[in-house]
Amino acid sequence: MPFVVAFPIPMMANLGSPDVMELHLLDAWSHLREMRFLILLAVVAACSLQVSHAFKIAAFNIERFDAHKVDDPVVLNLLIRILRRYELIAVQEVMNANDTAIKRLVEELNVATGLPYNLLISDHLGRGSYREKYVYIFREDILKPTEWYHYDDGCENCGSDSFLREPFVVRFSSLTTGLKDFVLATIHTSPDYAVLEVNALYDVWEDAKQRLHTENIMILGDFNADCSYVTARHWPMIRLRQDERLQWFIEDGGDTTVSTNNNCAYDRFVVSGAEFLNALIPETAKPINLQKEYGLTYAEAKAVSDHYPIEIELRKDELYNGQLFGVDSSFGISGGLSLNGVCDCAGVDFASCDGRCGAYSRTFPCSCNASCTSYSDCCTNYLAFCKP
Ligand SMILES: *[C@@H]1O[C@H](CO)[C@@H](O)[C@H](O)[C@H]1NC(C)=O
Ligand SMILES: *[C@@H]1O[C@H](CO)[C@@H](O)[C@H](O)[C@H]1NC(C)=O
Repeated sequence: MPFVVAFPIPMMANLGSPDVMELHLLDAWSHLREMRFLILLAVVAACSLQVSHAFKIAAFNIERFDAHKVDDPVVLNLLIRILRRYELIAVQEVMNANDTAIKRLVEELNVATGLPYNLLISDHLGRGSYREKYVYIFREDILKPTEWYHYDDGCENCGSDSFLREPFVVRFSSLTTGLKDFVLATIHTSPDYAVLEVNALYDVWEDAKQRLHTENIMILGDFNADCSYVTARHWPMIRLRQDERLQWFIEDGGDTTVSTNNNCAYDRFVVSGAEFLNALIPETAKPINLQKEYGLTYAEAKAVSDHYPIEIELRKDELYNGQLFGVDSSFGISGGLSLNGVCDCAGVDFASCDGRCGAYSRTFPCSCNASCTSYSDCCTNYLAFCKP
């Protein structure tokens, strides 16, 4: 930003002992300095709209996010410091059916940054009464969501759906990056079925390529893809990991959890498409250790989340001309309803867990959910299909 404001600041020592005249002079000078400061502020604000800084995407599981986090001023302040690092954030584990808490967070983010962030919110997803939403928080002046849907993962009523919380897929148009159009699919897998769900993300990827006619796709979020949930012996059976057209960022040895007792790389970015891969700066992919980055104690970091955000940087458009999107769309965009329940159970074998892991209903003859072993009501092939 080649802009220098060079008003001289008077040396107080040179003014000598002030008489009345000089007091007026001092007054005038301090007024001028205030003005200069205000002008500088205005210039900085104007420049920051024109000259984009690094463009970063994040995924962040804000553990059980609801009103109690925005009501806590310390946690709220930390969340804002974290979110403002990014142009685009895929958030997991937003709890409330009404979107009051997450909207308040983004409103506070806008006040703190002076930038227009908006949010795109998924359906309230889950198989039972415990549900979560996915939320994309994005700079509305430079990013525009153009298409979105919930992945249709099968029939919840029959227990034959593949995800506890089906991925929420969004296409973005981007002004300040070299890559102008890309697709994100965010996921929070069930820890009990992480191997199966990470494997099934391959189908989400294939489906998105066909529906959206692009290869430039990033799958991001909390995969639970490490430690006890996904182990070294599982990787060979996970298509998302084996296909070389997909690149994984955040290494297996990385740590995306606040806990000091383990190193688990639960959160990941998985990317395809030559243009998307060229647009990324691979060495910028990392978890942000909240304790180190913000000088927090374990307890302070844990109050924010049990996960660290993960981030990655995209190359800027060197020819960006300063164009901005309008910001007049509604605040808090609904992603609509997932297709849950719009299905029939023709041909489904309710006595089998094949393709039905997580299935539970009082009307089913046996269960395929993780607690069936303790209830002793698992279908006979539960272990074979659900615990690979
Ligand atoms: C939103 O839901 C929460 C509980 O999840 C409740 O406490 C709050 O009053 C609700 N707000 C509105 C505006 O409905
Ligand atoms: C899992 O199945 C048991 C019975 O086996 C049931 O009591 C429990 O509510 C189920 N849990 C979920 C989350 O569906």
